[in-house]
Amino acid sequence: MSQAFVDLAPLVPAGARTVIVHGVAAGTRQQLAVLLPEASIHDLADLPDAVSADLAVMEVASHIGQARIATELLELATALREGAVLLVVTARRLGSARQLKTLEGMLGAAEVAQRSGPVVVLRAVRGPEVLVPADAATTAPAVEAVLLGQNLRFETGDGLFSKSRIDHGTRLLIEALPPEQRWRDVLDLGCGYGPIGIATASRWPQLQVAMVDIDPAAVRAARTNIGLNGVDGRCEAHVSDGLSALSGRRFDAVLSHLPTHVPKSTLARLIHESAAALQPEGDLITVTASAVDLRAPLSAAFETVNVLSESPPTNSPQYRVLQATLSL
Ligand SMILES: C[S@@+](CC[C@H](N)C(=O)[O-])C[C@H]1O[C@@H](n2cnc3c(N)ncnc32)[C@H](O)[C@@H]1O
Repeated sequence: MSQAFVDLAPLVPAGARTVIVHGVAAGTRQQLAVLLPEASIHDLADLPDAVSADLAVMEVASHIGQARIATELLELATALREGAVLLVVTARRLGSARQLKTLEGMLGAAEVAQRSGPVVVLRAVRGPEVLVPADAATTAPAVEAVLLGQNLRFETGDGLFSKSRIDHGTRLLIEALPPEQRWRDVLDLGCGYGPIGIATASRWPQLQVAMVDIDPAAVRAARTNIGLNGVDGRCEAHVSDGLSALSGRRFDAVLSHLPTHVPKSTLARLIHESAAALQPEGDLITVTASAVDLRAPLSAAFETVNVLSESPPTNSPQYRVLQATLSL
């Protein structure tokens, strides 16, 4: 998710006290903290009520779809005070020209404020009104599904994993879970819009479920879905790279449809962070496409690794659910 370095110093209004960031890399956030040492910096996903910010910075670092970008720009713009600045760190290959048009349609005027290698920074100032951009998604896509015998509904969103149906691998993991549960504290790692965490919390009322995802839009959808499915109070969702936002917490089980379009070193880190956060005899239950064989990396961190379930080889892609368990 990282862009080339961009120097925000000439673009950041001096004296900005309230800043909203969305999807920004750690380096961009650090730069803002250095440039604006007095400012409070909030993630769009964790915005306090009735905020009226002086600056918003969004980073577009991958192809997440214009409807989602326009919707998120609209949310940022409406959280700004009049005269505040909206910056979008993006790239031509990621649709900067369309994003510029969206900003113009929404705020009346916008400009390319900086180019640095492949990186383009767009700038717009919030005027007295914000118009809904034509390309913004007006209603979130939704998925209805029966999981573990519960009727569940999930609002999803452009750019989220498996936004139109529950993924087959996700369903295989959920259905492979042993019906008699001794767990109390469970983590859904890489929760997306929340099917694993919410299905398990709905099925087993003793469970407390933490859900994390690196993508703020996924976490916002997961929070909406926690409320929609009536498991608030027992489920919470956080923006987090791996388990970084959960320092010190321990779990009886970590459940994860692991991301596989990430470097091998990231996958290994997610496995090791999971092992470190588990209680003795704790389980990491994962699903991935069978072509991504995790038995060796799991065995490096866990005493036992078993295949819990596997879809038929005729399914494409074929999925495998693995259970890795720590010793006492
Ligand atoms: C295969 S999807 C599974 C989503 C959801 N659990 C489901 O089954 O529908 C993997 C998820 O991991 C998230 N992810 C990727 N890298 C991550 C990281 N370093 N830390 C936390 N989540 C990450 C992605 O944003 C994505 O939502």
